[in-house]
Amino acid sequence: MKVLVTGGLGYIGSHTCCSLLDNGYDVVVLDNLSNSKIDVLDKIKEITGKEVKFYEGDMIDRAFLEEIFETEKVDAVIDFAAYKAVGESVSKPVEYYINNVSTVLVLLDTMKKYNVKKLVFSSSATVYGDPDKVPIKETDKTGGTTNPYGTSKLFVEQILKDLYKSDNEWDIAILRYFNPIGAHESGLIGEDPKGIPANLMPYIAKVANGELECLSVFGNDYDTHDGTGVRDYIHVVDLADGHIKALEKLEKEGSGLYIYNLGTGVGYSVLDIVKAFEAANNIKVNYKIVDRRPGDIAECYADSSLAYKELGWKATKNIEDMCRDAYNFVVKNSK
Ligand code: NAD
Ligand code: UFG
Repeated sequence: MKVLVTGGLGYIGSHTCCSLLDNGYDVVVLDNLSNSKIDVLDKIKEITGKEVKFYEGDMIDRAFLEEIFETEKVDAVIDFAAYKAVGESVSKPVEYYINNVSTVLVLLDTMKKYNVKKLVFSSSATVYGDPDKVPIKETDKTGGTTNPYGTSKLFVEQILKDLYKSDNEWDIAILRYFNPIGAHESGLIGEDPKGIPANLMPYIAKVANGELECLSVFGNDYDTHDGTGVRDYIHVVDLADGHIKALEKLEKEGSGLYIYNLGTGVGYSVLDIVKAFEAANNIKVNYKIVDRRPGDIAECYADSSLAYKELGWKATKNIEDMCRDAYNFVVKNSK
């Protein structure tokens, strides 16, 4: 089976390319390098020993997409290409809606034209807004998103539901990721944000590595076991494997629209993560408590039992693996 991976040189896309190649899929990558580097392509080849066909360009470009579909005759698409910085989306809503929604419309229209109707889409736990209860199930209410990034994911989910309603030959898996962290154990690929990281794990790893001075813990007065925010952190390699299971489902199941939470089902607080990181890497992480970050919620973790029941997928790596692999990547790639 030949799979087009959009945004395939990014953080989650690159790990998924490795899993796809390891599982015998042919992989074609489309990426405009807006948030990734071309050398990731060589790293994927180094890890897997396999070739990847790469197209550099923007998913908004219909002629470019048509050229790929015309040439490659792909059987399915995994769509990772999007902007993902929550804070930035508040100041650049138009850019976010174009890049996270309009591009998907161009992709879907092109898929329709070439009769490619299998799609795995990267969604996010952010579509649940501030959940009424945890763990969150796929059937729990969505909406109440607090930023254009989250709303863009909600919009695309609705578009995909409408598309499936109009033509149930489509085979669509919407995967709602919780908090992906960690890196490939080789240290060759991982999360490499430009500038100062906005997310917890890359920030901690850079503090530990001496690149940043001190972690700011955003609030310790939440209604959680130690007052700091609780999230469901999942190793990016486990997450990548979830895409293989989703594709297998689309291959064998006939048509359908499926939605799965991909998380571990365990919530860790910010201070739990700091302690786990220190223990896994035998290193001190300086931190200070500061005010809450606007828009943050207290607790968010998944009920991922549906993915286990229907896909046979569950996370296998623990918090120690996540902290060790995240740090290994930063140490190996620090400038
Ligand atoms: P990333 O920024 O590392 O990867 C996205 C890739 O897409 C980058 O390589 C970028 O260059 C490319 N890209 C962006 N817009 C493009 C366009 N218009 N045309 C072609 N290429 C384009 O992000 P990631 O963390 O790997 O996230 C992948 C997907 O998962 C995104 O859709 C994101 O919203 C979603 N997601 C991420 C997280 C997370 O915490 N990382 C959580 C939930 C959902
Ligand atoms: N945090 C800090 N200090 C930091 C960074 C984060 O204390 O420097 C805290 C946050 O307040 C939160 C937790 O660490 O309690 C996790 O924050 P992240 O920014 O790492 O992750 P979020 O849960 O805010 O959001 C992430 C992605 C979203 C995605 C969501 C899915 O950024 O794109 O996970 O659950 F939608």
